[in-house]
Amino acid sequence: MRNLSIPVVINRATIAKSRILSSAMSAYSYNFPNVLTKLGHLGVCYEPVNGSTTWHTHPWKLGPEICNEDIWYVLRGKGVMYYKRAGELKALEFKQGDIVHSKHLTNYTCNTGDKILIIPYFDVPRLPFDERAYENFRSLTPADIPEEARPLDPPVLVHEEDIKPICPFPEGGAKIRPLITHKTAGSMLANVGIFIAEPGEGSDWHSHPLDIWMGFPEEDLFFVIKGSGTLYFRLNDKQYEIPLREEDLVFTGHLPHCVCNTGDEPLIMFCGLTPIKRAVEGEIPEICP
Ligand SMILES: [Fe+2]
Repeated sequence: MRNLSIPVVINRATIAKSRILSSAMSAYSYNFPNVLTKLGHLGVCYEPVNGSTTWHTHPWKLGPEICNEDIWYVLRGKGVMYYKRAGELKALEFKQGDIVHSKHLTNYTCNTGDKILIIPYFDVPRLPFDERAYENFRSLTPADIPEEARPLDPPVLVHEEDIKPICPFPEGGAKIRPLITHKTAGSMLANVGIFIAEPGEGSDWHSHPLDIWMGFPEEDLFFVIKGSGTLYFRLNDKQYEIPLREEDLVFTGHLPHCVCNTGDEPLIMFCGLTPIKRAVEGEIPEICP
């Protein structure tokens, strides 16, 4: 069976921590291994009280319309994102329940609250998309990047309570809050939202195409925020299952699969789908984990 990746589940607690700076005040993150995916990248960033990331720029790739998109959901805490636009320093305050979409902005974030800031995020195309993009991401400061090379759309902030859950699945009964989509934030590549399933509910059985856009497969990644469940998949006429628990990072792969809340409390997940060709063309709902 050619190139059909099986699902992979890795718990956050078992991934080595990456620190952005060596300072105790710097943010750190846990990243799902890039080798498993072609386009999507999933991680969880933590910022200690009074901590921050450092100035960085997300790269532009794949032509003027398609650049790196950085999408981060404020699971806990509050902070400020500082960014440069038209030579000016701007500030965007964010709090729990907000999700922010930005393209190749030069920015950094600070924790301004009195508890740790927890931010699951979804990047697409994943970093490093190539070595040049990686250098660009890690080493440049705002002054190093010519203005004409970074036509800057402002970031878009969406609050989850402002987006009503929808039922995108023909069966299963789970709901999605479609937070960052082509419609809500002008995303060119990503559908990101919150999956909500009561006990017994889930998604329908489905699979993601292998060649959907520029030769890339459709990819489905999620982070279990709360609750537990089961990821079912089929291979060679057999059905398999992987238990899901809090803080799991999941890549569903390309075999037929579905997710079900097999626990006894609500299952809440941060989920991202890329690319979004089928969603933009109306073939599937705006988000479909
Ligand atoms: Fe899926």
